[in-house]
Amino acid sequence: MTEPPLALLAELTHRCPLQCPYCSNPVALNGPGEELSTAEWTRVFQEAAALGCLQIHLSGGEPMARRDLVELTAAASAAGLYTNLITSGVLMDAPRLAALRDAGLEHVQLSVQDAEAASADRIANLPGGHAKKLVAAQLVRDAGLALTLNAVVHRQNLDRLPDLIELALAMEAGRLEVAHVQYYGWALANRAALLPTRAQLDAATATVTRARAELRGRLVIDYVVPDYHASRPKACMGGWGRRFLAVSPAGRILPCHAAESIEGMVFPNVHDTALHAAWFGAEAFTRFRGTAWMPAPCQGCANAEQDWGGCRCQAFALVGDAAATDPACALSPHHHLLAEALDEAASSDSSYRYRRL
Ligand code: SF4
Ligand code: FES
Repeated sequence: MTEPPLALLAELTHRCPLQCPYCSNPVALNGPGEELSTAEWTRVFQEAAALGCLQIHLSGGEPMARRDLVELTAAASAAGLYTNLITSGVLMDAPRLAALRDAGLEHVQLSVQDAEAASADRIANLPGGHAKKLVAAQLVRDAGLALTLNAVVHRQNLDRLPDLIELALAMEAGRLEVAHVQYYGWALANRAALLPTRAQLDAATATVTRARAELRGRLVIDYVVPDYHASRPKACMGGWGRRFLAVSPAGRILPCHAAESIEGMVFPNVHDTALHAAWFGAEAFTRFRGTAWMPAPCQGCANAEQDWGGCRCQAFALVGDAAATDPACALSPHHHLLAEALDEAASSDSSYRYRRL
């Protein structure tokens, strides 16, 4: 039986002052003129709550670029959703954060690009950005809101993972998410500059294991491992159409924030489809739900209901077929593509193609 989703990712806008080369937004970004209005988002939040969602992640782009963010936060909270803001922090100030808290905001996830300012600012292509994030963390703490630090890691910052953990402690974050870059969209375009080496990954995994033991009770560390050194894929999104749904700035209802990277898939839009109808009935959601759609070698595999065949966006990005077994799986006939990409990255320079509207 299909259960309702747990959480809605509301991508309020694709506008953002940062230009991270691993951005999970689609390469073809939505312009400001396409964005849903305050009233449309409010209806979406109410539909999400009625559908059974418990949490909402207000995200982007940079959600603080929306002038109506306080109103939107109030609408999400009034709908009964636990409200989390995923932000770069560079547009934050004390009065706005106080207004968001008073509107019902409960949690802030603050992204950092690195522990070292010059490198962080180069990754985001925003001089002075890192310093603003340090101020934002202090503001979140002063406002009494729960704070998670998000660190996306890759070849060019992974060696400073111990410093990122120190930064999370200094910011008094309750949680640190260490997420290796996932390679679709912008990140795929920058893959050769971002893929970590095996030695870097092993050192990082040891760092996380040690820190988790030492910091138990002080800091929770979530760790998303990179597919390119794996032999089994991750259960991406907890399985397609099983736990999460996302709505893009232009109103497309997506089973995954990166699903628009799958060419040829048609997604319903909140302009003409209710979230309930999309979740239970739209082909975009039912197509890869469960295990019946799976090809060999997933069909009959003992792991089929653990990893759900891996990531559909990655299968499309690497094989050109979203219905293929994720090449991160050693049983995939395309698994060799990952080793080839690692070889290519080993001899590549570190220049970025920045995310731009
Ligand atoms: Fe997972 Fe499919 Fe690989 Fe089995 S064959 S481990 S189900 S991706
Ligand atoms: Fe879309 Fe994995 S990122 S299914």
